Amino acid sequence: MTQRRIFVTTALPYANGNFHIGHIMEYIQADIWVRFQRMMGHEVNFVGADDAHGAPIMIAAQKAGITPQQFVANIAAGRKPYLDGFNIAFDNWHSTDGPENHELAQAIYKDLKAAGLISTKVIEQFFDPEKGMFLPDRFIKGECPKCGAKDQYGDSCEACGAVYSPTELKNPYSALSGATPILKNSEHYFFSLSDPRCAQFLEVWTHQEGRLQPEVLNKIKEWFAKDDEGKGGLGDWDISRDAPYFGIEIPDAPGKYFYVWLDAPIGYLASLKNYLGKKGLDYEKYINDPAVEQYHFIGKDITYFHTLFWPAMLHFSGRKTPDAIFVHGFLTVNNGEKMSKSRGTGLDPLKYLSLGMNPEWLRYYLAAKLNGRNEDIDFNSEDFMLRVNSDLVGKFINIASRAAGFIHKRFAGQLSAVSTDGQTLLDLLKASSSLVSGLYDSRDYAKALREVMRLADRVNEYVDQNKPWELAKKEGMDARLQDVCTTCIEAFRLLSIYLKPVLPHLASQVEKFLKVGSLNWQSAEQVLGAGHEIGQYQHLMQRVEEKQLDALLTPPEPVVEALIPGGEAIAPTITIDDFAKIDLRIAKIVDCKAVEGSTKLLQLSLDAGEGRLRNVFSGIASCYKPEDLVGKLTVLVANLAPRKMKFGISEGMVLAASHADEKAQPGIYILEPVAGATPGMRIH
Ligand code: 2FM
Ligand code: ZN
Repeated sequence: MTQRRIFVTTALPYANGNFHIGHIMEYIQADIWVRFQRMMGHEVNFVGADDAHGAPIMIAAQKAGITPQQFVANIAAGRKPYLDGFNIAFDNWHSTDGPENHELAQAIYKDLKAAGLISTKVIEQFFDPEKGMFLPDRFIKGECPKCGAKDQYGDSCEACGAVYSPTELKNPYSALSGATPILKNSEHYFFSLSDPRCAQFLEVWTHQEGRLQPEVLNKIKEWFAKDDEGKGGLGDWDISRDAPYFGIEIPDAPGKYFYVWLDAPIGYLASLKNYLGKKGLDYEKYINDPAVEQYHFIGKDITYFHTLFWPAMLHFSGRKTPDAIFVHGFLTVNNGEKMSKSRGTGLDPLKYLSLGMNPEWLRYYLAAKLNGRNEDIDFNSEDFMLRVNSDLVGKFINIASRAAGFIHKRFAGQLSAVSTDGQTLLDLLKASSSLVSGLYDSRDYAKALREVMRLADRVNEYVDQNKPWELAKKEGMDARLQDVCTTCIEAFRLLSIYLKPVLPHLASQVEKFLKVGSLNWQSAEQVLGAGHEIGQYQHLMQRVEEKQLDALLTPPEPVVEALIPGGEAIAPTITIDDFAKIDLRIAKIVDCKAVEGSTKLLQLSLDAGEGRLRNVFSGIASCYKPEDLVGKLTVLVANLAPRKMKFGISEGMVLAASHADEKAQPGIYILEPVAGATPGMRIH
């Protein structure tokens, strides 16, 4: 077998929120495929990154009073618990704002320009007259020009998948202010997709065997199609945005930035480059190697970008194109709302984990539903219970638990040889190896697992026919008991190999229990063999309980009613990531003065260890005399956006406690750390 060299990515999530279950589904789908390829002995580089750029992130950062870089870093810091929690093993996680992406995006752009595929045009663009800025696509909403669906974004329709420009929307409105946007001129840069070279290339590229799923290809044909008047077909793609914009500057075009969707897929290459760089490997050599296969797992809503723009960008900049794009559908929960980007509610991945639910149940369940097509799948509680409890635990795990006890207690953990009937069963299991591997390779995990469960059924039939628990009570049947139980253990090992891409954690427990090295696909050719000693069986997997699923899918009660003795309701729950956005520092009150013209404010000069002093106005004059505070330490909100006040600029806020009803129970108490804290220390 020749070793394949494979480069795999998932779509890069916008760094404007935490993962939702739709992301996790995609990552699990890709992770299973990657683990499978590695079990086959292939070399895989599996990378992801945050999609950092774009106006929505810039606007969100502004609202949070932090830089977009800080905003994105905060989001990135929250990724790990999800990925680790669901055993999703990216080799690298990077950001499209990394230096590699800036370089690569500018290089690709220059190459496209040299190929004569960049043009400029003055276009009329929507401008929010209330906000005084050009409106990004995502901040213009209206009715889809193709299907009429309401409240669609300005760039693409979530109902029918159409991609269009915001000016084509019917009844547009600004999502920032609600105002009806007006049209204003601006020069924009375009990727000339209407150039006949592009259509020619894409026509061939998209039709190449194995490149796209048939249902995806059908969709693309609609996008290619021209009407009787020759209208429609591929249009030029607007790739620039005007400052202010969080993105990558377009070379030789001051004030112009790449539209986020231009540099986002380049982020795949950037993350790879970053990863190979860390390993001391040559990125150029790897990415240009014709033997390296490149695959992208994506959701169906971003097909257009990945099957038309992306291959064209790569090809006409003189680069290799992906071998295939693997498109999946959306996930719904109990037939509810779609888990699309912006509306990811219903099944919170971290809540799943915090309820102690086994991540491999979810991996198994999703795998049992994913068939390699772009159909939507539904997370259904009853179905989940059934598949986990009856199939995974009932049919598979039980094989080990039924046999291992006897081997341990009666035969000191030693396996025996297997007699003919047992061997026939094992041969049947082995004979499915290439069927199952073929199904994994074509991402039809649903069928692969059906086959594995069919095999598990056969093993259980064998157990029921041979009744080891009866053999155990009979005189002179020891050898047969050991033979039957050995057959079960050997069968369990084979099934564990077939399930390992889906259940990596379980497989590693099985490896320990069976005292074998890392199982790969080749291991199915071997046996443990007579005399092999296995470890003591420890329960490998619990059943899922109905109450866990109920708790998972019950939305949290908003805690508005719960009044505490202090008289003020506890604010809605935030995540640790939310909290991490607030940078609290120990600060020394170096100076404190009354503010002329104000009875409420004191003016503080604070040393927060920055080598400069901060000016902060604080409404504590009713409770403190300036001289009482000088020299004291307190707590400063150090990353609060500066605020212009009548008396000057306030660069932060000091923390103080007060009663909800300040009139009834007056008193303001500023916070002071216990002795030992020094200016500049961060409060976690
Ligand atoms: O739709 C999205 O969530 C985008 N952030 C996906 C980008 S995929 C790739 F192009 F980076
Ligand atoms: Zn539509």
